[in-house]
Amino acid sequence: MAKLKVIVTGGGGYIGSHTIVDLIQNGFEVISIDNFSHSSEKVFEGIQEITGQRVFNYNIDLKDRASTLKVLGEHVDAVGVIHFAAYKSVPESVEKPLKYYKNNMEGLFNIVEGVEKYKIPHFVFSSSCSVYGLVDDLPLRETTPFGVAQCAYARTKQHGEQMLEDVSLVANFNTVLLRYFNPVGAHPSAKIGEMPIDAPNNLVPIVTQVAIGKREILTVFGGDYPTRDGSCVRDYIHVCDVAHAHTLAMQYLYQRKAKQKVEVFNLGTGDGVTVLEVIQAFEKTTGEKLRYEIGSRRLGDVVKVYADNSKAKSELGWELKYSLKDMMQSAWDWEQKMLKL
Ligand code: UD1
Repeated sequence: MAKLKVIVTGGGGYIGSHTIVDLIQNGFEVISIDNFSHSSEKVFEGIQEITGQRVFNYNIDLKDRASTLKVLGEHVDAVGVIHFAAYKSVPESVEKPLKYYKNNMEGLFNIVEGVEKYKIPHFVFSSSCSVYGLVDDLPLRETTPFGVAQCAYARTKQHGEQMLEDVSLVANFNTVLLRYFNPVGAHPSAKIGEMPIDAPNNLVPIVTQVAIGKREILTVFGGDYPTRDGSCVRDYIHVCDVAHAHTLAMQYLYQRKAKQKVEVFNLGTGDGVTVLEVIQAFEKTTGEKLRYEIGSRRLGDVVKVYADNSKAKSELGWELKYSLKDMMQSAWDWEQKMLKL
């Protein structure tokens, strides 16, 4: 039987690359679209080392409507599109909101236009727990209404979801929205991981960069939040667990299990962990001592988020495989591996 083909945008990126591995290992054929604005072609070597397969990548910018439509037109037999490609830095989006609206919205418009035009039946959208904004009602459920978004990045995800809801009323395709909490760690093989082109803004890559000596010190953004130790609470989840949820979402769509044209799933562990607890977990797991200081709060941060993940477990059959320890160990293995790349 011919393999089912999936088009992945942002295939060179952090979650995209781990998802490609998971899709291939579950029998899918994958085509990638990535212009390497925030990733490197080297990622595809890592994917090949793990899976034995070289993934074909189109090096195009999704803001280029004509090229985007052309690529999708060449793969009308695809069973679905998984759309990762987007900018994702919370602080950068506060400083450069237009850059975020332009990239994240235009890319989405063009890819959705292509999906509709070429009658590709299934669509998976990378969303984020940041769509919930400032809400006190924890854990966050898929039915929790959107609060006020805290940054332009979060708002592009809210708009993206809402646009897909509107389009779905008349569209031919079915959609799954996956709301990621905080994906961290790397593939256990240490052949792929997060490979920031610019200085990273996310906590765990900064932790590993400080530990390896690429950075002097980690600043904990805020020590006076109303949490158990004063630092923010997040729901950290291993990137391979997140990746596998995409494979399950694609299977769920083509097996026609979705009850509605748009289904939403939270992808988190359900455990809230503070920044200081992440530091302790890293130190304990790796034996490395981390230099850190408590600094002021970061603009755009929310105090506390963690997921109710019961819907993904019951409807997608999603099971978590990795612990916080695994997240720290794999992130550290990958940081050390990057020295040799
Ligand atoms: C946010 C989004 C998340 C999105 C991600 C993409 C929210 C609630 N979450 O994650 O959905 O996928 O952006 O980038 O908006 N921190 C420090 N020092 C640092 C860096 C971070 O203390 O140098 C703290 C932050 O204040 C935060 C935690 O670490 O409390 C995690 O930060 P980060 O990794 O940047 O992710 P979020 O901003 O939570």
